[in-house]
This record gives sequence, structure tokens and C-alpha cells, in this order.
Amino acid sequence: MPVSRPSLSVHLQETGAPDTLRHLILEVARACKYIHYALRTTEAGLAGTFNQYGDAQVKLDVISNDIIARHLHESRLVASFISEEEQSVIELRDDAPYSVVFDPLDGSSVVDTNFTVGTIVGIYAGKELIGRTPREQVGALYVLYGPRTLLVYSTGNGVHEFILDEMGEFILLHGFLGIGDNPKSYSVGNLVATKENAAYRTLVEGWMQSGLTLRYTGCMVTDIHHVLSKGNGIFVNIGGGKYPHGKLRLVFECGPFAYLVEQAGGMASTGKAPILDVKIESIDQRTNIIVGSMKEVERVCGLLN
Ligand code: F6P
Repeated sequence: MPVSRPSLSVHLQETGAPDTLRHLILEVARACKYIHYALRTTEAGLAGTFNQYGDAQVKLDVISNDIIARHLHESRLVASFISEEEQSVIELRDDAPYSVVFDPLDGSSVVDTNFTVGTIVGIYAGKELIGRTPREQVGALYVLYGPRTLLVYSTGNGVHEFILDEMGEFILLHGFLGIGDNPKSYSVGNLVATKENAAYRTLVEGWMQSGLTLRYTGCMVTDIHHVLSKGNGIFVNIGGGKYPHGKLRLVFECGPFAYLVEQAGGMASTGKAPILDVKIESIDQRTNIIVGSMKEVERVCGLLN
């Protein structure tokens, strides 16, 4: 007899997530099923619009953002949200318990090539987001749209991976993902910064000589999922060139991943401090990030400082 695996809803109950948080995560998961469908059926061209950072939006960015925004609104559980595709904090209901930060379609610059892309979400209790730190998140998740669509979440009780089945249900694939200390692969972004940053160049050259394998797609969700899925590895994106203070966004990208990776026993640092302790000063804040197997993160921080 096949062993039955819990659905996301049952699993959230089993791991003791409060009812309101469970409903919110299920609503986000529902939204991501529509994004999964949109990715398969929508042309991947430019939308003719730009987000607040001046990045050209593809149609799928705009569609994915609208899908999530609508579901957050309909949930009646969200006081405010910030999306990478919006210009400002969107306020919904003063009396609602949560605020949500999200990147609706991370990796949209590679979506036209049919590379794997993802959605990243962080959840905070209360209405305010500015002045908080990512450590205050009460949950985080990402969805990876690849040959299989996967959802990985944590509400502070381990990190759990689900697969979207043919009936449209997220079913547990692996519970309690863990990240060990011996990386077998490395993933390096914003390599242009190695031109001006000798320590970064030395680091990358060291990895090239080390016997570790390069695994890099240009989509943070895919590249960090590789680390969580294999249970080891390291991902870095260091500022320089066009992005002197780091390329990746604290609020929508680094914060949720730092929460998930630390829940899995790994580490996430700016190079100087845990990502989880960086205060959110503005919604477009960027940071360096070094994330993955703990000892390797510590070694890299030592080398870059
Ligand atoms: O923020 C968007 C993003 O596409 C991330 O998903 C990815 O890790 C990064 O940019 C890629 O950066 P680079 O082009 O510098 O390698």
C-alpha cells in the first residue's frame, strides 16, 4: 500500500502553526498554483513597464504580482505588504494579524530562456515592516517552478519541502531539510565585482581550484534550493560594479532565505553580521549575502573582511 503523505494544510496543523498563519500560507500556496499555470501559458515577453529599481518588467512579473496581491487581499489576514514589483508599502486592513513581503517572480530575467524561476515570501506579525529585522519573521517560504513545482516553508519548526501533484495539491516530499558543514558546490553571483574586489576574486579562484563544483543559474530561488535540497553548499552575491552595496534585496530576497537556511542549520551573513539582524531601513535596501553551510560561510566572511 502506498504510504500517504500529508498535504500542506495537514502538515501545517501537525507542526503547530497558528490557524491564521496556516490560512495565510495556504492562500499564498493557492496563488502560486496560478503562477505555476501562468508560467506555462503566458508569453515571456517584456511588459513595457519598469519596477521601482528600474528593472524592465516581463509580463509574468506583472501577472505574478497581481495574483499574489489579490490573494493577500482576499485572505483578510494581511495588514500590509511590500512586493518587489510595487513602488511602496501597500496597506490593506489595520486589524489584520500579518504583513507580507514578497518577490513574485525571482529570476524573471531568465524566464524567457525557460530556466527555473521562483516566488519568495516572508511573513511578519503586525502591520509595520520598516524598523523590523528579518529575525522577526514568523514564517517564510518559496516556490520553485521547474520541471516539478516545489514549495519549501518554515514557521520556525524546521524546513519542509512539498511537491505540487497532478490534483493541484502540495504534498510533503521531504520533512526537516538540513544543511551540513561540508559543501560540495558553490554558487557565485555578481562576478563583475571580482574586478574591483581582490578578496572576492581570491575566493572564487580558491573554489575553482578546490574540487567543489560550480552550480549557478542566475535565479536565487533555484541556486539556494540547490543548497537546501542537497543539504550542503554555498551561495554568495557580493556588491560591486553597478551594485556597490550588494545586488540582492534584504526585504524580499535575503531576509526570507536567511530565515529558511538558519532553520535548516545553515548560516546567512552580510559578511559582517547575520542577515537576520539587519534592520530594515527602506524597502529597496540591498545587501551582500553569504549563505549555506555554516563553516564555509564563516570562512568566507573571514576572507572577505
Ligand atoms: O535579484 C534577481 C536575481 O536574478 C537573483 O535571483 C539572482 O541570484 C541574481 O539576480 C543574479 O545576479 P547576477 O546576475 O549578478 O549573477
